[in-house]
Amino acid sequence: MPLARHPRDRLIVALDLPTVDEARSLVRILGDEISFYKIGLELILSGTPGDSGLGLVSELVDNGKRVFLDAKLLDISNTVERSVARVAELGATFLTVHGHDMQTLRAGVTGRGDSQLKLLAVTVLTNLTGGDLSEQGITMSPEDLVLHRTKLAKEAGFDGVIASGQEAAAVRTATKAGFLIVTPGIRLPGSSAGDQQRIMTPQHAIAAGANHIVVGRPINAASDPRVAAATFVKHIAEAS
Ligand code: C5P
Repeated sequence: MPLARHPRDRLIVALDLPTVDEARSLVRILGDEISFYKIGLELILSGTPGDSGLGLVSELVDNGKRVFLDAKLLDISNTVERSVARVAELGATFLTVHGHDMQTLRAGVTGRGDSQLKLLAVTVLTNLTGGDLSEQGITMSPEDLVLHRTKLAKEAGFDGVIASGQEAAAVRTATKAGFLIVTPGIRLPGSSAGDQQRIMTPQHAIAAGANHIVVGRPINAASDPRVAAATFVKHIAEAS
């Protein structure tokens, strides 16, 4: 099945909520408006052994949704490889692995084996600025570092990268059409950025070459999440 048959399939809603019940209730409210969800660290670590955020992955998949497991893995190769193999068994569509080094990336590809799981490398988190990179002793600009890590991810056999809308165009120029660009840090014109620094509107991110956009707070904290989701889908459709 193609990943994005309808503009709706290009929108991934981040279930950044404190409890599994709240995540389930948001999925219920959004109904058919949304086909793709991101489960990140907050939800992975919440719930009870019998009803965990991680358990929601299979539950959503069983209900016909796609799931992006945003686990942002970074560890020694053996651990990354074995962890990716476990995620491949859950039925998730996307998984993130930090794209800092070739050892980690290659371990991800080995762990995925011949499963359908698509691996996305985290290039540079969208809340980081050039100043935050210099603090880590990195002299490259965020854009150069994103491009460098994209090259590593491609060489390792990854399916795509997470990149902010501001770097999406440069990543698209450096990669072929089949290489996925998934873009968080999306805001409608004039809305609050929160802690995000390198933000972009849905139209600009899609026009820059993003295959999917990830939207969290503008939908999950909206007074009417379904209306907010429909607005994002409309903007994607207009830009497609
Ligand atoms: O609420 P907001 O729309 O800012 O949420 C963005 C989501 O995308 C969060 O779940 C965040 O963890 C994720 N993300 C990001 N930057 C990355 C990778 C993932 O903001 N580079």
